[in-house]
Amino acid sequence: MPLTVLQHPVVDHWMTRLRDKRTDPAQFRVICKRLTAFLVMEATRDLPVETDPIETPLEAIEGRALGADIVVVPILRAGLGMLEAVTDILPHVSVGYVGLERDHTTAQARTYYCKLPPVAGSTVLVVDPMLATGGSAEMAVDLLYREGARDVRLLAMVAAPEGVKRLQTKFPELPVFTAALDRQLNALKYIVPGLGDFGDRLYGTGSSAHE
Ligand code: PRP
Ligand code: URA
Repeated sequence: MPLTVLQHPVVDHWMTRLRDKRTDPAQFRVICKRLTAFLVMEATRDLPVETDPIETPLEAIEGRALGADIVVVPILRAGLGMLEAVTDILPHVSVGYVGLERDHTTAQARTYYCKLPPVAGSTVLVVDPMLATGGSAEMAVDLLYREGARDVRLLAMVAAPEGVKRLQTKFPELPVFTAALDRQLNALKYIVPGLGDFGDRLYGTGSSAHE
């Protein structure tokens, strides 16, 4: 599985601010959006382009326009924090939603919602900020392949080696983009050093289940 870990001082700067436990939900949402923009640029680097002839005020040129149909699928709930960054950069995307939730004691994900546009023939960007055990991502990607998607890419803010390994085994062809590859999971299957519970930090619904 091709894994891309963003290497950029600006990403490192904002990732540190995102991780900081003093960062409140309002700041957290803004930083999340900023970091997602970097992930989107990296994950779309190889998309096809078509010629788009235009005239600048000075002369005619063969411009370029994106030639791919793109679907973005945020994994509820935390993935919603990444959605606006994608639709800002790529306003013509279709949006599908998959609701997944990890059980706090077993860390097993379960699906509670799914509403997808047609995905066959499109580039599908799955946005889910935390790749921990990989159970949620595996379920989402499986579901998209079953719907006929062939070009699926996963964008995560923080990944754990355990989750990366799981996806590598299950989907050797799946490209994964992350802003940080962390050390490991703790006993409760939270990423360390990580940033805690992403959904709780995004929406101010604090819990200390990860401690
Ligand atoms: C988080 C995160 C991922 C999942 C990752 O969601 O957004 O979807 O955990 O863990 P995994 O790799 O071990 O499956 P969570 O279940 O906390 O739900 P939420 O987004 O509704 O808070
Ligand atoms: N989900 C989170 O929000 N954080 C983790 O560290 C792991 C799963």
